[in-house]
Amino acid sequence: LDQYAVIGNPIAHSLSPRIHATFAHQTHQALEYGAILGNLDDFAGDVRGFIAMGGRGLNVTVPFKEQAWQLLADRSPRAELAGAINTLIIHDDGRLHGDNTDGIGFMRDLIDNHGFQFTNRRVLLLGAGGAARGLVPALLTSDLAHLTVANRTVARAQQLAETHAAVDACALTELTALQPFDLIINATSSGLTDQHLPSLPAHCLAAGGWVYDLIYRPAHLPATPFCRWGTAHGAARVLDGLGMLVEQAAEAFWLWRGVRPNTAPVIAALRDQND
Ligand code: ATR
Repeated sequence: LDQYAVIGNPIAHSLSPRIHATFAHQTHQALEYGAILGNLDDFAGDVRGFIAMGGRGLNVTVPFKEQAWQLLADRSPRAELAGAINTLIIHDDGRLHGDNTDGIGFMRDLIDNHGFQFTNRRVLLLGAGGAARGLVPALLTSDLAHLTVANRTVARAQQLAETHAAVDACALTELTALQPFDLIINATSSGLTDQHLPSLPAHCLAAGGWVYDLIYRPAHLPATPFCRWGTAHGAARVLDGLGMLVEQAAEAFWLWRGVRPNTAPVIAALRDQND
């Protein structure tokens, strides 16, 4: 069987093996998909080991996406722009190709699964790390009216804005002075540790505005702090990152196997389960 895996650290709670097993079953693809606890000091060695075992593809997750980008010289344009790789394709002759399906996974979830319309919308992206970098090129493929990146460390937001002409940068503390936004995306890692975001001004969210947290929580746990902020401030839709997780996986599956799985039942099943 063709071997695939997700590599990260930690990795025990990754949903990727379950998602890809479901995709494989659905599309009648003969493959195995495992999970690798990556060595923090030897990511390259782990990748080499997986290739030596005959591995065909890897998904890369926290904290190795930037290292994967450094390791692979052959990258897709969207991975190049993101500065991060989440999908690695291993060719028959052992050559490696790196791609990044996070941005398109996010857009598919927001637009195809939830019907968000970008036309004339003002979008605020919180955070300027790897996750935010992956989203910016994808967001700019839409016809949004305006994209602002706000970050705790303003220099990082400015750096991100410099590489994309149509993007404004500011510090989180400067948001008070700005017009409200129709979509606010949390791409900071702060919700992972359950710290609260520094208080966003209440008027930041426009009437009818949506919020989207890249982080997700199983249904039986309380919503993420950012999702709770959205609910408390009257967001028309409050979305977390589960749909994006499944959509980025589907795009990786398509790159590897040339078949597109049906994501809706997979998202629904993960949403309903209680672990
Ligand atoms: P990732 O790959 O998840 O994006 P990262 O590159 O370390 O991880 O970036 C983390 C992001 O979350 C950064 O934008 C960081 O802000 P700084 O650049 O100022 O460090 C942001 N972040 C992390 N903890 C935060 C907190 N408690 N409040 C606000 N922003 C936070």
